[in-house]
Amino acid sequence: MGELPSDLVRVVLSAETIHNRVCEIADQLSEDYADKGGIYIIGILKGAFIFLADLTRQLTVPHVVDFMALSSYGKTDTFSGAVRIIMDLREPIEGRHVLIVEDIVDSGHTLDYLYRTLTGRKPASLRTCVLLEKKRDSLDVPIHYLGFEIKDVWVVGYGLDFADAYRTLPYIAELKRD
Ligand code: PRP
Repeated sequence: MGELPSDLVRVVLSAETIHNRVCEIADQLSEDYADKGGIYIIGILKGAFIFLADLTRQLTVPHVVDFMALSSYGKTDTFSGAVRIIMDLREPIEGRHVLIVEDIVDSGHTLDYLYRTLTGRKPASLRTCVLLEKKRDSLDVPIHYLGFEIKDVWVVGYGLDFADAYRTLPYIAELKRD
Protein backbone atom coordinates (compact mmCIF):
# COMPACT_ATOMS: atom_id res chain seq x y z
CA MET A 1 0.00 0.00 0.00
CA GLY A 2 3.04 2.32 0.36
CA GLU A 3 3.56 5.02 2.96
CA LEU A 4 0.63 6.79 4.53
CA PRO A 5 0.37 10.52 3.78
CA SER A 6 1.85 12.41 6.76
CA ASP A 7 -1.55 13.86 7.78
CA LEU A 8 -2.92 10.39 8.43
CA VAL A 9 -2.46 8.38 11.62
CA ARG A 10 -3.37 4.84 10.56
CA VAL A 11 -5.48 2.81 8.21
CA VAL A 12 -8.81 2.05 9.88
CA LEU A 13 -10.29 -0.11 7.09
CA SER A 14 -8.19 -1.54 4.29
CA ALA A 15 -9.35 -1.63 0.66
CA GLU A 16 -9.77 -5.39 0.94
CA THR A 17 -11.83 -5.19 4.13
CA ILE A 18 -14.09 -2.57 2.55
CA HIS A 19 -14.44 -4.57 -0.67
CA ASN A 20 -15.45 -7.73 1.19
CA ARG A 21 -18.09 -5.91 3.24
CA VAL A 22 -19.45 -4.07 0.18
CA CYS A 23 -19.89 -7.44 -1.56
CA GLU A 24 -21.73 -8.83 1.48
CA ILE A 25 -24.09 -5.85 1.57
CA ALA A 26 -24.70 -6.11 -2.19
CA ASP A 27 -25.56 -9.80 -1.80
CA GLN A 28 -28.00 -8.97 1.00
CA LEU A 29 -29.61 -6.21 -1.06
CA SER A 30 -29.87 -8.47 -4.11
CA GLU A 31 -31.68 -11.03 -1.96
CA ASP A 32 -33.96 -8.56 -0.18
CA TYR A 33 -35.01 -6.73 -3.35
CA ALA A 34 -35.24 -9.81 -5.61
CA ASP A 35 -39.02 -9.62 -5.92
CA LYS A 36 -39.40 -5.82 -5.82
CA GLY A 37 -38.99 -5.08 -9.53
CA GLY A 38 -36.05 -2.73 -9.05
CA ILE A 39 -34.45 -0.35 -6.57
CA TYR A 40 -34.34 3.43 -6.88
CA ILE A 41 -30.92 4.12 -5.37
CA ILE A 42 -30.09 7.59 -4.13
CA GLY A 43 -26.43 8.42 -3.55
CA ILE A 44 -25.75 11.40 -1.33
CA LEU A 45 -23.02 13.64 -2.76
CA LYS A 46 -20.28 14.01 -2.47
CA GLY A 47 -19.16 11.46 0.10
CA ALA A 48 -21.13 8.42 -1.11
CA PHE A 49 -19.94 8.38 -4.72
CA ILE A 50 -17.28 5.67 -4.38
CA PHE A 51 -19.28 3.42 -2.06
CA LEU A 52 -22.26 3.81 -4.38
CA ALA A 53 -20.22 2.95 -7.48
CA ASP A 54 -18.72 -0.19 -5.92
CA LEU A 55 -21.98 -1.32 -4.31
CA THR A 56 -24.18 -0.92 -7.37
CA ARG A 57 -21.74 -2.79 -9.61
CA GLN A 58 -22.12 -5.85 -7.36
CA LEU A 59 -25.93 -5.87 -7.41
CA THR A 60 -27.73 -8.60 -9.31
CA VAL A 61 -31.16 -6.91 -9.17
CA PRO A 62 -32.37 -4.11 -11.48
CA HIS A 63 -31.67 -0.64 -10.16
CA VAL A 64 -31.63 3.03 -11.12
CA VAL A 65 -29.06 5.42 -9.68
CA ASP A 66 -29.88 9.02 -8.81
CA PHE A 67 -28.18 11.61 -6.62
CA MET A 68 -28.96 14.28 -4.07
CA ALA A 69 -26.62 16.83 -2.57
CA LEU A 70 -27.23 18.25 0.87
CA SER A 71 -25.44 20.85 2.83
CA SER A 72 -25.36 21.59 6.51
CA TYR A 73 -25.26 25.32 7.00
CA GLY A 74 -23.04 26.19 9.93
CA LYS A 75 -21.71 22.64 10.37
CA THR A 76 -18.76 22.34 12.77
CA ASP A 77 -17.09 19.53 14.72
CA THR A 78 -19.62 19.86 17.49
CA PHE A 79 -22.70 21.26 15.74
CA SER A 80 -24.32 19.52 12.80
CA GLY A 81 -26.01 22.63 11.42
CA ALA A 82 -29.28 22.99 9.53
CA VAL A 83 -29.58 20.56 6.63
CA ARG A 84 -30.91 21.70 3.25
CA ILE A 85 -31.13 20.24 -0.24
CA ILE A 86 -28.78 21.82 -2.76
CA MET A 87 -29.42 19.31 -5.57
CA ASP A 88 -32.61 17.27 -5.78
CA LEU A 89 -33.62 14.02 -7.52
CA ARG A 90 -34.37 13.87 -11.25
CA GLU A 91 -37.62 11.93 -10.79
CA PRO A 92 -40.54 11.54 -8.39
CA ILE A 93 -40.15 8.53 -6.09
CA GLU A 94 -43.82 7.93 -5.29
CA GLY A 95 -44.56 4.20 -5.36
CA ARG A 96 -40.92 3.19 -5.86
CA HIS A 97 -38.63 1.10 -3.68
CA VAL A 98 -36.05 3.64 -2.56
CA LEU A 99 -32.66 3.04 -0.99
CA ILE A 100 -30.58 5.92 0.39
CA VAL A 101 -26.82 5.31 0.16
CA GLU A 102 -24.63 7.35 2.51
CA ASP A 103 -20.93 7.19 3.30
CA ILE A 104 -21.18 8.07 6.98
CA VAL A 105 -23.62 8.80 9.75
CA ASP A 106 -21.96 11.04 12.31
CA SER A 107 -24.54 12.99 14.34
CA GLY A 108 -27.28 11.43 12.20
CA HIS A 109 -28.90 14.77 11.38
CA THR A 110 -28.32 14.54 7.62
CA LEU A 111 -29.84 11.08 7.33
CA ASP A 112 -32.66 11.95 9.69
CA TYR A 113 -33.58 15.00 7.59
CA LEU A 114 -33.36 13.00 4.38
CA TYR A 115 -35.40 10.10 5.69
CA ARG A 116 -38.20 12.39 6.84
CA THR A 117 -38.13 14.40 3.61
CA LEU A 118 -38.23 11.34 1.33
CA THR A 119 -40.90 9.62 3.43
CA GLY A 120 -43.08 12.62 2.62
CA ARG A 121 -42.76 11.80 -1.10
CA LYS A 122 -44.61 8.50 -0.55
CA PRO A 123 -42.19 5.83 -1.83
CA ALA A 124 -43.42 2.21 -1.74
CA SER A 125 -40.55 1.55 0.69
CA LEU A 126 -37.62 3.53 2.03
CA ARG A 127 -34.45 2.02 3.42
CA THR A 128 -30.99 3.28 4.26
CA CYS A 129 -27.57 1.84 3.48
CA VAL A 130 -24.64 3.41 5.29
CA LEU A 131 -20.97 2.46 5.08
CA LEU A 132 -19.82 3.93 8.41
CA GLU A 133 -21.64 4.79 11.61
CA LYS A 134 -20.14 6.93 14.35
CA LYS A 135 -21.93 8.02 17.48
CA ARG A 136 -25.39 9.20 16.36
CA ASP A 137 -27.20 11.67 18.65
CA SER A 138 -30.21 9.80 19.95
CA LEU A 139 -32.03 10.13 16.62
CA ASP A 140 -34.22 7.22 15.71
CA VAL A 141 -33.57 7.21 11.96
CA PRO A 142 -33.11 3.56 10.96
CA ILE A 143 -29.97 2.20 9.32
CA HIS A 144 -31.11 -0.94 7.48
CA TYR A 145 -27.75 -1.89 5.97
CA LEU A 146 -24.53 -0.92 7.77
CA GLY A 147 -20.94 -1.50 6.71
CA PHE A 148 -18.99 -0.76 9.88
CA GLU A 149 -19.28 0.99 13.22
CA ILE A 150 -16.24 3.16 13.87
CA LYS A 151 -14.79 5.17 16.73
CA ASP A 152 -15.47 8.88 16.95
CA VAL A 153 -12.39 9.99 15.04
CA TRP A 154 -12.16 11.95 11.78
CA VAL A 155 -11.74 9.50 8.91
CA VAL A 156 -10.92 10.12 5.26
CA GLY A 157 -10.70 8.07 2.09
CA TYR A 158 -13.14 5.97 0.04
CA GLY A 159 -15.27 9.07 -0.60
CA LEU A 160 -14.73 10.80 2.74
CA ASP A 161 -12.77 14.02 2.77
CA PHE A 162 -10.99 16.63 4.80
CA ALA A 163 -11.55 19.99 3.05
CA ASP A 164 -12.16 17.97 -0.13
CA ALA A 165 -8.79 16.19 0.09
CA TYR A 166 -8.22 12.41 0.41
CA ARG A 167 -11.60 11.38 -1.09
CA THR A 168 -10.06 8.98 -3.60
CA LEU A 169 -7.81 7.00 -1.27
CA PRO A 170 -8.70 3.30 -1.69
CA TYR A 171 -8.74 2.75 2.09
CA ILE A 172 -10.25 4.59 5.08
CA ALA A 173 -7.76 6.21 7.44
CA GLU A 174 -7.77 8.28 10.59
CA LEU A 175 -6.78 11.89 10.14
CA LYS A 176 -4.24 13.54 12.44
CA ARG A 177 -5.89 16.40 14.35
CA ASP A 178 -3.75 19.14 15.83
C1 PRP B 1 -20.99 14.20 5.49
C2 PRP B 1 -21.47 12.81 5.14
C3 PRP B 1 -22.91 12.83 5.54
C4 PRP B 1 -22.94 13.80 6.70
C5 PRP B 1 -22.97 13.04 7.99
O1 PRP B 1 -21.27 15.06 4.45
O2 PRP B 1 -21.32 12.53 3.77
O3 PRP B 1 -23.75 13.30 4.50
O4 PRP B 1 -21.71 14.56 6.66
O5 PRP B 1 -22.97 13.91 9.09
P1 PRP B 1 -24.15 13.97 10.17
O6 PRP B 1 -24.58 12.55 10.46
O7 PRP B 1 -23.50 14.64 11.34
O8 PRP B 1 -25.27 14.77 9.59
P2 PRP B 1 -20.58 16.49 4.29
O9 PRP B 1 -21.54 17.55 4.79
O10 PRP B 1 -19.20 16.47 4.89
O11 PRP B 1 -20.52 16.65 2.71
P3 PRP B 1 -19.74 15.77 1.61
O12 PRP B 1 -20.38 14.39 1.58
O13 PRP B 1 -19.95 16.52 0.35
O14 PRP B 1 -18.27 15.68 2.02
